[in-house]
Amino acid sequence: VVRVQSIASLSKHANTIPSEYIRSENEQPAGSTVQGVVLEVPVIDLSDESNIEKIVRLISEASREWGIFQVVNHGIPNEAISKLQRVGREFFELPKEEKEVIAKTSESGIEGYGTTLQKEIEGKKGWVDHLFHKILPPNAINYNYWPKNPPSYREANEEYAERLRHVSDKLTKWLSLGLGLEGQELKAAMGGEDTIYLMKINYYPPCPRPDLALGVVAHTDMSALTILVPNEVQGLQVFRDDSWYDVKYIPNALIVHIGDQIEILSNGKYKAVFHRSTVNKESTRMSWPVFLEPPAEVEIGPITKLVTEESPAKFKTKKYKDYVYCKLNKLPQ
Ligand code: SIN
Ligand code: FE2
Repeated sequence: VVRVQSIASLSKHANTIPSEYIRSENEQPAGSTVQGVVLEVPVIDLSDESNIEKIVRLISEASREWGIFQVVNHGIPNEAISKLQRVGREFFELPKEEKEVIAKTSESGIEGYGTTLQKEIEGKKGWVDHLFHKILPPNAINYNYWPKNPPSYREANEEYAERLRHVSDKLTKWLSLGLGLEGQELKAAMGGEDTIYLMKINYYPPCPRPDLALGVVAHTDMSALTILVPNEVQGLQVFRDDSWYDVKYIPNALIVHIGDQIEILSNGKYKAVFHRSTVNKESTRMSWPVFLEPPAEVEIGPITKLVTEESPAKFKTKKYKDYVYCKLNKLPQ
């Protein structure tokens, strides 16, 4: 498999990119991004737990109106985030042969080092390589897909996972309360303690033509919830009022996306955010989304209490694995 990282190092001094990376005109970031504006998505301070009602209200409003928000004072030390970023970057900077040791195979499913293989609509590719591996729950982890190098990779990811679990437990509780449910109901509907935490590292090498290429094309996440940290290079974009905007980064914040499964569970009250990512001419962009996903066999549909005569079910109920199959194969849900 040809990695985007290899293509990038070969085309470092070029002024062009291979045609399969050139997006159709209406998708090219240069023409389709609102210039000179950085969108400020809601920022929610989690430090004041004496005022839970306010936090619940802000999270609920952000999830209804935006589907994306950032949280600050979330309790994960900056050092734990920088360590996660450092070891991830060190892995991608290893020689190619060392990364290929944990490459995806036809049997490995989603986990492993990879580059999107199947061409997307119109035969275009994203300017990005990735690594996927599960980080929770412990019985779902397959360490074969965790880099052995750098040696501290495992410790950094285990620490981040444990700390992230605390944050996500709070977020799902507050999201649940924001729907008028009991605090534990949303988490239980997502799979409870069996919810899968899937780490993805996106590695976007410098691109000679960031005006023409995209990293990850426009999508909503299939997950229930996604919690992401980016590096310092701008690139996450959100679709708002019929246009694409760069999202303003807040140092050390966590970026939270409502995914398809929470949109469904909430019967459409919370909205999955439509987003994409762009690339940079000089700098390597990276991001670390963690997808919180229901176990494959868990059935996801609007939570019964949220289905009423005035608010009939907007979505079918189906197993998460069937939802994924339809989405990946672009079949109707
Ligand atoms: C994604 O949503 O898949 C990528 C987001 C990012 O890199 O910021
Ligand atoms: Fe995404």
